[in-house]
Amino acid sequence: MKKTVIDLLLLENKQLNKDNFLLKLQSPISVSEIFPGQFVNIEIKEAGEIFLRRPFSVLDVDYQNQTISLLVKILGRGSKKLTEAKGGLTFSTILPLGKSFTMPSKNDRVLLIGGGSGVAPMLFLAKCCGLDPENVHVLIGARSAIDHIDIEDYQPLGKFYFTTEDGTLGEKGYVTNHSLFTNKLKEFTKIYACGPDLMMKAIGRIALENQIFCELSLENMMACGFGVCLCCVEDTKAGHKCVCTDGPVFNVNDLKW
Ligand SMILES: Cc1cc2nc3c(=O)[nH]c(=O)nc-3n(C[C@H](O)[C@H](O)[C@H](O)COP(=O)(O)OP(=O)(O)OC[C@H]3O[C@@H](n4cnc5c(N)ncnc54)[C@H](O)[C@@H]3O)c2cc1C
Ligand code: FES
Repeated sequence: MKKTVIDLLLLENKQLNKDNFLLKLQSPISVSEIFPGQFVNIEIKEAGEIFLRRPFSVLDVDYQNQTISLLVKILGRGSKKLTEAKGGLTFSTILPLGKSFTMPSKNDRVLLIGGGSGVAPMLFLAKCCGLDPENVHVLIGARSAIDHIDIEDYQPLGKFYFTTEDGTLGEKGYVTNHSLFTNKLKEFTKIYACGPDLMMKAIGRIALENQIFCELSLENMMACGFGVCLCCVEDTKAGHKCVCTDGPVFNVNDLKW
């Protein structure tokens, strides 16, 4: 799908827990070519002085009804305004942006890891990867049980595991402390992950040490979202690259960490 600026109509804004909301937006044009890992850059004009758009990964796409779902975590003013928006409002949105994950092949056994709002592209990938659910393993990390979102609708897509920093759900610690890393890592042919920078670096290091294919979706600060402002650059082995256009998905072998 060609990159486009369109007005998306907010159909639903549902609170999932204290800080996370699910926004369902309707597109006036087909959204059949938006893939896991890609994101949208949304103008929050209701917030007046917030003139820079804010990037959000695509959580889900309903191709038939032309809707896009986003998982929005309140971080600052822009995200808060979005979560307060009422159905019926429209948001000027640039989409689809960035490169998507490389789809696994049919014999792969994949580990998808999402930290915080990084869970959004992982759930979309679990839905679209076309693998038998027994070969899809999804590890989700958060600070505490109350920060995890309900993933019941996604359960049939694979096997889910959780970590919390305070031990209130799943195993205690960071995602890389999970027993999947200590006991079962070699069972996976591909790792895909999205989350905070330190988490990406920790996962990337382990994947490199164990020589496992690994793609990471980076969440560098962004402004334009389409390669003009250069505020999102990442140092890679091929020089500085814009995360918004050359990423956000990078193979770990290409990053210079
Ligand atoms: C490619 C991409 C995909 C993203 N996907 C999602 C998603 O699916 N769901 C979601 O909730 N969020 C996602 N984010 C993060 C989201 O864009 C930011 O939370 C949002 O832009 C913050 O805007 P704000 O106005 O609420 O906060 P601001 O007022 O702009 O900032 C509040 C604080 O957060 C910091 N901050 C802002 N953006 C980031 C960032 N990207 N990384 C680290 N710190 C930041 C600022 O420095 C400041 O300290 C994504 C970011 C990128 C780049
Ligand atoms: S956000 Fe402007 S170049 Fe990437």
